[in-house]
Amino acid sequence: MTTTAMNRWRRARTDLPTIVKEALGLIHLLLRRSTDAKAVYDILSAHNNLGDRTLYLNMGYWRGATSYDQACEALALLLAERARLAAGQTVLDAGFGFGDQDILWARRFGVRIVGFNITASQVSAARDRVREAGLALDVDLKCRSVLHTGLADSSVDRVVALESAFHLSSRDAFFAEARRVLRPGGRIALADLCAVANPSTRLFDRVNAWVAQRMWQIPACNHYDAREYAARLEAAGFVDVTVERITDDVFLPFGAYARRHQSDPDIAARANPLLRAVWRAPATDRVFDYVLVTGRRPEATA
Ligand SMILES: C[S@@+](CC[C@H](N)C(=O)[O-])C[C@H]1O[C@@H](n2cnc3c(N)ncnc32)[C@H](O)[C@@H]1O
Repeated sequence: MTTTAMNRWRRARTDLPTIVKEALGLIHLLLRRSTDAKAVYDILSAHNNLGDRTLYLNMGYWRGATSYDQACEALALLLAERARLAAGQTVLDAGFGFGDQDILWARRFGVRIVGFNITASQVSAARDRVREAGLALDVDLKCRSVLHTGLADSSVDRVVALESAFHLSSRDAFFAEARRVLRPGGRIALADLCAVANPSTRLFDRVNAWVAQRMWQIPACNHYDAREYAARLEAAGFVDVTVERITDDVFLPFGAYARRHQSDPDIAARANPLLRAVWRAPATDRVFDYVLVTGRRPEATA
């Protein structure tokens, strides 16, 4: 999709009142006591993203990628590969953003998707985009929390979460819901942020991490490292758990790209100056890891 076509889903230029309203909202996120992921995405709508032809909202997998669109698509495909998506499967997509990955997965792998997202504006745009892609029969997008899917027990073959599980209150509750709805033998795959094993104690890194945690509304209960991540998935009843650290192919190249491109004329015209300042900030890789995680619900259910 060209940039012009994308402007049907997002404004090309943001006016001053919107900039001020969003900036106040972002500052409020830093100060509020409880976390609420919906609050972030109600503010950061489609114009606050780096894509030319997509509306992805993840940090991308940059090995071999030269643009944000390519990197986001590469991350979606890497996750699909780890999930072992295959034709005919029913896939639960947790936190689908504007639906880019669902269109990609349905086309590429011939899967049926039931998606969950709490941000109404994203759901509405994603549904329109799915319909326009001719995939309305294959992709069912619900405006509902993935913690309470309402799906029947053992009704899906795969559960995937592309950079969304860190938001959930809590990630453990998501693991429990995923295990319930997965059929025996079904797989879960996540692209996710977690804590590094030995977080930096430098004041600068701690402040940087605090801002990131508040800005992206990451509940404190989800801030643990890769080893504990695996242990918690196992405690939720999954087996064959793997955790793969891909931090160096995500954070640093994403940060470098965002810093370089935040002043591109079309991005500068539409993206909030406060968010562009966040894009200019140093990466938080001394505090956060980026991981690909997989697990399987055992065949014999307990
Ligand atoms: C970082 S964005 C990633 C979006 C998309 N997966 C992508 O890669 O472009 C996180 C998404 O998780 C969604 N989300 C957060 N909490 C959720 C919840 N409890 N249930 C469903 N979706 C949620 C947000 O609305 C947002 O769409």
